[in-house]
Amino acid sequence: MASRVSALAKPRGVWWEGLGRDERLWVWLTVIWGIAMFLMIAFVWPLIGEEQNRLHSYRVDPVTFASQAEAFIQQYQIGQRDGVPVVAPPPGGDVYLDARAFAWQPVVQLKRGETYRFLISSRDVQHGFSLVMPPHSINVQVLPGYVAVLELTPEETGEFPLICNEYCGLGHHLMIGRIIVTE
Ligand code: CUA
Repeated sequence: MASRVSALAKPRGVWWEGLGRDERLWVWLTVIWGIAMFLMIAFVWPLIGEEQNRLHSYRVDPVTFASQAEAFIQQYQIGQRDGVPVVAPPPGGDVYLDARAFAWQPVVQLKRGETYRFLISSRDVQHGFSLVMPPHSINVQVLPGYVAVLELTPEETGEFPLICNEYCGLGHHLMIGRIIVTE
């Protein structure tokens, strides 16, 4: 009797009885590699990976943060763009970045090769800081009541869009900020 191959038909043979030697080998290699990758993510790359940016954060009162950001903007503002202040902080200095529905404030102008300490927080709901600015490629959650601290050293000049990648309301897709890097 010719049997047709079908998912409904019972397979023939003893395929369910035990693993072959090479199967066992691959199962164990997979398990060991999974554990190795977990250990790399948890312990190895945070210590030696150059692309990693160690994130620190601390608690803050949102009203306090908003007033610190306002003071920062007043001190270093050099212009305006589409109604958003453009700020050029001193090289090596702090940069306050204020997220709100649905804007990033201010537009930040940096100097290439200088390191800046970004202090990022939200004054309303959760937002997401998503920036690709060589050599950095960063995703950070931005929460009200917490300041995320990031050190960034731009190595290319240009304009880099800062995108919100946490859904924060009807204007979420419009929430695009800007970082400008000059010589
Ligand atoms: Cu802010 Cu989405």
